[in-house]
Amino acid sequence: MAKSLFIPGPVDVRPDILQAMGTPMIGHRSKDASALQRRISENLQRVFMTQNPILLSTSSGTGLMEGSIRSCTAKRAVVFSVGAFGDRWFQLAKSNNVPADHVRSENGQPTLAETVDQYLATGKYDVFTVTHNETSTGLMNPVAEIAAVRRKYPDILWLVDAVSSMGGAKIDVDGLGIDVCITSTQKCLGLPPGMSVCSVSHKALEHARQVPFRGSYLDIVELYDYLVKKDFQYPSTPSLSHMYALDKQLDYILNIEGLENRYARHLELAEITRAWADEHFERFAARGYESVTLTTIKNTKGISIADLNKKIGALGYQISNGYGDLKEKTFRIAHMADRTVAELRALLKVLDEQIATM
Ligand SMILES: Cc1ncc(COP(=O)(O)O)c(C=O)c1O
Repeated sequence: MAKSLFIPGPVDVRPDILQAMGTPMIGHRSKDASALQRRISENLQRVFMTQNPILLSTSSGTGLMEGSIRSCTAKRAVVFSVGAFGDRWFQLAKSNNVPADHVRSENGQPTLAETVDQYLATGKYDVFTVTHNETSTGLMNPVAEIAAVRRKYPDILWLVDAVSSMGGAKIDVDGLGIDVCITSTQKCLGLPPGMSVCSVSHKALEHARQVPFRGSYLDIVELYDYLVKKDFQYPSTPSLSHMYALDKQLDYILNIEGLENRYARHLELAEITRAWADEHFERFAARGYESVTLTTIKNTKGISIADLNKKIGALGYQISNGYGDLKEKTFRIAHMADRTVAELRALLKVLDEQIATM
C-alpha cells in the first residue's frame, strides 16, 4: 500500500510530476535534449541563487559528494561533520585516497564558524566541506556565519551538502560564496530519487584542473567541459525521465508556488512540528539550529518507534526512525517538498491517537 511519506526522502511526488517522468524518450544528442538541459540549468541557477554553472548527474547526491571532493582536492580537505552525512563525506574522501581531516561535532551540535576559522587558518587545506542540513539529527548549520569567516580565505574551496534542504530553505550560493553546492532530486525538490545536481564555481573548476586523478564518471571538470562543448549535453546517457520531471517541477517552484512562498511553507511546517515535539517529547537539535525541512525528536517517552511506525503504517502514514546510533532514541518527521499544512496536521493527529495507545 502506498503511504504518505513523512520520511526525509524519498518524498511523495505529485501525480503530474510522476506523469512527466513517463514522457516519451528523445535522443540524448538531439537539439531538444540540449534545450531541455539548458532550461533546467537556467532555472536551477535561480533556485540556487547563483550565476555559476549547474551540473546534472545521473547518480544520487552521494555521487556528486564523491565527485566534488575527489575532483577539487589538490592538497588536503577538511570535512566538518555534524552527523552521519558529514561522516559519509569523510569516508568518500578516504576511499578515494583524498587526503582529508575529519572534524566532528557532537550529534545535535552545529559546525561553528570559529571552528572553521581555526582550521582554515592553519594553511593546510585547499578544500573544506560543510553539511547545510544534517538529515540524521535535524540540524541546520549556520552557513551565514561560516561564510563570514570564510571571506578571510577566498582561495580555499567551500563544498556544501544541501541534499536535504535546497528548494526548501533559502541558500544564496553566490551571496555565501559557496563553490560547490549539491542536492538530490528526492528531497525538497519533490522528485523521485535517481538524479542529483550541483552548482560549481569557475574557481573550483580551475583549481580542479590541477588534480591529476579526478576519476571519470563523476569528474566535475569532464562534466563541465563536455557541457560547454556540446551545448548542455553530458558525456554519458542521462536520465531523461528525471529531466522531464525536473523541468516541470522547476516551472512549478519558480512560477506557480514561488520560491519565497515555498520557503515560508517549509518554515510553517517546521514550526508546527517543533511545537508538537515540545508538547509531547523534546527537540533533538540544539536550539536555534533546527532544520526547517525535517524535525528530529528525542524519544523521551521510550516508546517503540518501530511499533509506532507499524501502527501508523496500517493507517497509511510513515515517519522515520532515528538514523544509525540514534535509532529508537530519536525519530524524524520530514516536512519537505510539496507537503501541505493540512497533510502534516492529519499526520500529527494520527500520531497523537496512536501514541496514546502505547
Ligand atoms: C544530508 C544528506 N547528505 C547526503 C545524502 C546522500 O544523498 P543520496 O541518498 O541522494 O545519495 C543524504 C541522503 O539522505 C542526506 O540527507
